[in-house]
Amino acid sequence: MSDKNFDLAIIGGGPGGYSAAIRSAQMGKKVALIEKQFLGGVCLNVGCIPTKALLSSTDALDIIKKADTFAIHVEKVSFTLEGMIERKDNIVRDLRKGLEGLLLSNKIQIIKGKGKFLSKNEIEITGQTSEKISAENIIIATGSYPTEIPNIKVDHKKIYNSNSLLCLKKQPKSMVIIGGGYIGCEFASFYTRLGVKVTIIEALPSILYSHGKDLAKLLSGSFKAEGVDLKVATKVLKCEETADGIEVYLDNNEVIKSEIALLAVGRKPLTQDLNLDALNIQMGKQGEIIVDDQMRTSSPNIFAIGDVIGKWMLAHTAVHEALVAVDTIHGIESKMDFSAVPAVIFTKPEIAIVGLTPDKAKEKNMDVEIAKFPFTALGKAHALSEKKGFVDVVIDKKTKIILGAQAIGPSASILIAEMGLAITNKLTANAVIDTIHAHPTLPESWQEALLITLNRPLNFPPNLKL
Ligand code: FAD
Ligand code: NAI
Repeated sequence: MSDKNFDLAIIGGGPGGYSAAIRSAQMGKKVALIEKQFLGGVCLNVGCIPTKALLSSTDALDIIKKADTFAIHVEKVSFTLEGMIERKDNIVRDLRKGLEGLLLSNKIQIIKGKGKFLSKNEIEITGQTSEKISAENIIIATGSYPTEIPNIKVDHKKIYNSNSLLCLKKQPKSMVIIGGGYIGCEFASFYTRLGVKVTIIEALPSILYSHGKDLAKLLSGSFKAEGVDLKVATKVLKCEETADGIEVYLDNNEVIKSEIALLAVGRKPLTQDLNLDALNIQMGKQGEIIVDDQMRTSSPNIFAIGDVIGKWMLAHTAVHEALVAVDTIHGIESKMDFSAVPAVIFTKPEIAIVGLTPDKAKEKNMDVEIAKFPFTALGKAHALSEKKGFVDVVIDKKTKIILGAQAIGPSASILIAEMGLAITNKLTANAVIDTIHAHPTLPESWQEALLITLNRPLNFPPNLKL
């Protein structure tokens, strides 16, 4: 095989692409990974990692601010947004360097440049590198880009998207966030805790609307208590720049003045410039690439994974899809199952969901029980002074199999893993109850919630419904 011929070529070096490359190289295959910008993709460079690095700074700030609660007296607290951004940049730089080393140690050929199909087995790379390569199989892992809307020009000076906002070093006094989804809520949680006046404009009846009423209500209450102005069921008509900021015109005739705005109204699959039309690859209405449950496109040797298939735009689904695609390519039977995808919104309080939500179960008229347990009844939550929030579990009434779970409150992002394991393995309420959970810990909340469904609560009054 010549230097230009590969077993597998992957276009896009985000979590989907680089995981596929590593897995295939582990199987002894000759792999090329084509990346036009930065290894690690959106997730490492302008997504998961940088946002969570910044949110960790405000989590630390929160604890310092409420030091008195822990009987600790702190004299003076100071911080700068610039310092937090520099910390975030250092974390991203270190991880990116580590990733490049990891790929090279797996003998993956990294090709820096933009990939485009010439035929179903050939790719042309332009930009930093100019070459043509061929591969038996190809995976498209090109990710997604931020959606824009009419009358709002993202100029990255007053009106930002999530990419450019992550570079802003001067703390604004006020910010309008258009879109109360994942990005809008996480940035609102960060900026409001820095002391910025935040307004969220959300077109649907609540923020995080698709995550159900209970979670949205609790997060909305927390945001309001921190001073976030929430305008739901409201649309933005246009934004106009003024000498000292912007004016945001709403469909309820209100005009909001603010220093800057963030546009966060969703993301779209990135498929332009790949020359997919020439290959007759089947696409959906939103520009997503259609795949089967083995991640195969309508062209049998071409696979697509991650944000570009427009299903769950999350890093861990991209990684899982990568493993399914590579297994399939190498003849190992594998299918993608979306029934237990965890999703976490890293706000304060954190929100995490996996599997069937109570609202979806009701909507589908399913015969389920919903077990809810509040953190206020849990010893560890008191020790942490984090008593707000709850967990709930959806179980099948007849079989007692766990179908879904949600958590809002301390360490929800960590808590949800146990329920992901339970749902993936079709465990019953008893399997969790019979597992000895250390005390005092937050995961005891799952046991307590499930005990309620069996009418044998230990740390909750009998027959009390939440
Ligand atoms: P990407 O990570 O987008 O990578 C695609 C790569 O392909 C990019 O590097 C791009 O440069 C490259 N590329 C594109 N076209 C070409 C081409 N023609 N040639 C060569 N290279 C090309 N998800 C979570 O699970 N948890 C989180 O906490 C989280 N936080 C997020 C926060 C923000 C602000 C954003 C925007 C997203 C967040 N996400 C999070 C979503 C997550 O980042 C994505 O789901 C994930 O990055 C998708 O991975 P991917 O491999 O499909 O694509
Ligand atoms: P989103 O789909 O989560 O939220 C967009 C919101 O904007 C929706 O609530 C929508 O109703 C609203 N909206 C749309 N048009 C509007 C308009 N004209 N005016 C007002 N509101 C409008 O998309 P978001 O927040 O941009 O994030 C994109 C994706 O990135 C997410 O869906 C998620 O997959 C991923 N992500 C994941 C994170 C995580 O896992 N913690 C964090 C951040 C992003």
